[in-house]
Amino acid sequence: MSSLVTLASWLSTWGVIKAAGFTSYLCIFVSVVLGAFSYGTAVPAKLRGILLPAHQLAGWLGFLFGLLHGAVLTIDTYQPFSLAEILIPFTAKFHPWASGLGTVALYILAAILISSDCIKSLGKKAWRAVHRLSYPLVILAFLHGLSDGSDSDKIWAFPLYAGSAIIFAAAGLYRAYIQWKADRKPLASK
Ligand code: HEM
Repeated sequence: MSSLVTLASWLSTWGVIKAAGFTSYLCIFVSVVLGAFSYGTAVPAKLRGILLPAHQLAGWLGFLFGLLHGAVLTIDTYQPFSLAEILIPFTAKFHPWASGLGTVALYILAAILISSDCIKSLGKKAWRAVHRLSYPLVILAFLHGLSDGSDSDKIWAFPLYAGSAIIFAAAGLYRAYIQWKADRKPLASK
């Protein structure tokens, strides 16, 4: 019976909002970790050919589920949001700061995806500057989910948030190390 109640709540609009939020967070996290490990020698070259499309697909899925998450909030009757509250960060009546972080995360993700489709016209330097926002993006999405979500205190949410934070930190450190090594190379060869 209790599993039926759980299933029913997950099938409500509120359930869709939660499920889409978690799916979006996980996709963004996976995309950034795959992106970080597609540089350097940690992964064999052959495997890197698979990592890159998977990294792009996960980024797009993160965006689509993020859109669904925000869009369903406008039709929810339990905690309804106006379109303006979703589009203008920090203006929501419900958890303005935490909800605002979600909106900012969605905008950053949109900028990353659009800039990746315009590398030629933007130039690699500008594209890279936008793409590096993916690290703060994960942190914003993490803080948003943890502080806005009503499931954050659930037993299963702890390994999800803690596990993703540890793996994300390891991927970020690895990527920073690869960059540090690459930046040192021209100096050493002088
Ligand atoms: C890419 C962007 C976003 C991601 C990755 C994301 C992710 C999440 C996650 C993981 C949760 C936790 C769900 C739970 O604990 O049940 C959550 C909750 C929530 N999010 Fe987002 N979100 C994003 C964008 C937005 C936007 C644009 C809004 C609208 C302002 C928003 C509003 C909310 C609200 C109101 C909750 C609370 C739901 C609850 O109490 O369970 N989010 N989000």
